[in-house]
Amino acid sequence: MLCELNHQVVCIDTDTAKLKQLKSNRIPFHEPGLEELLNRHLSRGSLSFTSDTGQGVRESDILFITVGTPSKSDGSTDLSQIKNVAETIGSNQNGYKVVVNKSTAPVGTCEKVHRWILERQPRKLPVDVVCNPEFLREGKALYDALHPDRVVIGAENGKAARFIRNLYDAISCPKMMTGLRTAELIKYSANAFLAMKISFINEIGRLCDAHGVDVTDVATGIGLDSRIGSRFLKAGIGWGGSCFPKDLASLVHMFEQADLSPRILEAVRQVNDTQVEYYLRQLEERLGDVRGKTISILGIAFKPDTDDIREAPAIKVIQALHKKGAFLKAYDPVVFIHRAPTGLPVTLCSEMSETFEDSDCIFLLTEWKNFLHFDWKSHRHRMRTPLIIDGRNALDQNALTQYGYIYYGIGRVYSKLASL
Ligand code: UDX
Repeated sequence: MLCELNHQVVCIDTDTAKLKQLKSNRIPFHEPGLEELLNRHLSRGSLSFTSDTGQGVRESDILFITVGTPSKSDGSTDLSQIKNVAETIGSNQNGYKVVVNKSTAPVGTCEKVHRWILERQPRKLPVDVVCNPEFLREGKALYDALHPDRVVIGAENGKAARFIRNLYDAISCPKMMTGLRTAELIKYSANAFLAMKISFINEIGRLCDAHGVDVTDVATGIGLDSRIGSRFLKAGIGWGGSCFPKDLASLVHMFEQADLSPRILEAVRQVNDTQVEYYLRQLEERLGDVRGKTISILGIAFKPDTDDIREAPAIKVIQALHKKGAFLKAYDPVVFIHRAPTGLPVTLCSEMSETFEDSDCIFLLTEWKNFLHFDWKSHRHRMRTPLIIDGRNALDQNALTQYGYIYYGIGRVYSKLASL
């Protein structure tokens, strides 16, 4: 994104194998559009890679920290990678630097970063720390980076804040200048709010099941209220991924540290944590005991357009069904090619059509486009029991029902109107 905005960028990393891959124009994960962009900027010379951290620090005016901030078992955030980078910057500092933290980290982290840098400086040098959180979605990271809803810049020094704001001059969107701690909390609050919207509609989905109401209509009806908004109201198996679960755990931990009870956040997590169980009950109501039955999983990634399986609902479903004695088959168009998960108790299918063969249920867990546009009609007869559990409310219920499938999606109602 910075290269696209005409800045010269050097990526510094100690993982030489990864750097070698990137230098030869290969992206180590699945993200549509990224390889073309890498290729363009490598050949233009606007992007380079180095494992020489000292040189990278000395030759840059602005340093972005973009390392992982994993959860510890108590929900707190492991800041060791950020600390490591801050200390490396301090030890190699040779003049004024602006250090921008992009890694999601608890309130107060930027102040720590400032301290960690100062502690390692060989002599006293000026340094400003800025918090510039990212709001990118995996799979859409490129689009989100170039078309953000807003840019948030947290700083304690106006000069440093303006310096970073200028980087985004070519992007037209609101640019919010604020304090360091505020910027840090904006990031967590944004993710928690989005997760809350999903858990909310998932809970309403359960009530829709009880009353024969269609949750997609309820979502449309409330989403048309501009105070609510229509996005992140798709009911389904629940949220996963590398951000929502970790960031909610971290936010809950921040509340606890402040001696406060995060009641809404706990409920948001509780609905999500029980969603797989809820779906399994629906499955068993339709299929009976799953022991010895064959269940086919469509989609492993935590959402489409990524090969990321961190906290993916599919993994939880596979483990739970395996424990109940089901025989499992699985197909994902990308996950098994890019990052084969080891130890998953499933038989891998190399094509979607194989999942139908002698299967008692197809359980859709990632709404990959090719699943939606598949020829479901011609494959129904290959299943032993034509049961579809749509974990993403993504399939055409009316069409599938007409083809003779038994369909379940949370809060979905067969629409007589749509079939007229
Ligand atoms: C999220 C935030 O959207 C992004 O701003 C932040 O920077 C990182 O975390 P990401 O984890 O890539 O991005 O995925 P996102 O598209 O937000 O989806 C998260 C989870 O929620 C997925 O499992 C998705 O399937 C689920 N989801 C999303 C729903 O179940 N329903 C919805 O309506 C939207």
